[in-house]
Amino acid sequence: MQSNIPFSGRADHTPPLAALAPMSGVTDVSMRRIARRFGASFVVSEMVASDDYVRGSEESRVRAEGEGIDCHIVQLAGRDPEWMAEAARLAEANGAHVIDINMGCPAKRVTGGFAGSALMRDLDLAERLIEATRAATSLPVSVKMRLGWDDASLNASELARRAEAHGVSWITVHGRTRCQFYKGEADWRAIAEVKHSVSLPVIANGDCTSLDDAKTMLSLSKADGVMVGRAALGQPWVVGQIARGLAGEVYRETEIKERQDAVNQHYDDLLSIYGVEIGIRHARKHLAAYLDDAIAQGAKWSEAERLELLTSSDHHIVTKRLARLYDTIDRREAA
Ligand SMILES: Cc1cc2nc3c(=O)[nH]c(=O)nc-3n(C[C@H](O)[C@H](O)[C@H](O)COP(=O)(O)O)c2cc1C
Repeated sequence: MQSNIPFSGRADHTPPLAALAPMSGVTDVSMRRIARRFGASFVVSEMVASDDYVRGSEESRVRAEGEGIDCHIVQLAGRDPEWMAEAARLAEANGAHVIDINMGCPAKRVTGGFAGSALMRDLDLAERLIEATRAATSLPVSVKMRLGWDDASLNASELARRAEAHGVSWITVHGRTRCQFYKGEADWRAIAEVKHSVSLPVIANGDCTSLDDAKTMLSLSKADGVMVGRAALGQPWVVGQIARGLAGEVYRETEIKERQDAVNQHYDDLLSIYGVEIGIRHARKHLAAYLDDAIAQGAKWSEAERLELLTSSDHHIVTKRLARLYDTIDRREAA
């Protein structure tokens, strides 16, 4: 399959781009395939812990899966250069086209091990991880970061400069500090300072939910693209809508039939990826979000039906309920 590497001159999208953010527990390979099929410029895997991946953990293998994705970007997390290098080699051997390094995750479980955004407190270590990853593979490497650890240490520009010196291909900046977690608003203007400090392409991230947001975000951040996270849960097609809008195409909402087909595909894929029992449980967060989207499109659905859709452990029932859900939408009025 031809790889479609962003900023390589071989991509089918030219900047400004709209990408799907990596989200642990959310952006499984099926969701990434769907987002890309609907036109997302690129998609990134869930974070994969480098040591677990190298030790052969099944969960990591599934997270790093990229079958059917023409630009398969695996996000690695870790704090040990050797594990990162080994994991990058393994990801390359397993078909990755780009390695993204996680320097933005705020979770205590991750920062407690000095990985994720904790690396923004130790830029020398962050640099060694980039260096080791770059040396281990011939693949392009990107880095995802926050603005800094807290308001007193806004060092994303410094990290970006060091990443550039080590040949990183692009960086993504979430416009919050680690200590903000997801509170407050992402600071899109602050991303412009990072952009000014490097000649690398920069992707702006944080609170982008629509084409209008994306346009404002690009004008304030001066970035080369936007990355959409939470807004894509329940509507993975939104990233492609934004990408097409940014490319100047006539804006078009995704039709109900397209949404329904995507939801069915995602549900079936989850059952085959994780097996029926775990797949059904894994699917619930997606189904809850797809249900909200369908209701916003005019589906008529009771609380009792919601409960059944989200708690049934019989996949035949869930499939039937999904069909009925979309039948309740008056397609002349929707979208
Ligand atoms: C449930 C969830 C899981 C996430 N997992 C990851 C991850 O694995 N790697 C990563 O770099 N960021 C992760 N993030 C952060 C997102 O990629 C993104 O930076 C953040 O949500 C801000 O973008 P948004 O406002 O568009 O959601 C996660 C966010 C959420 C909500």
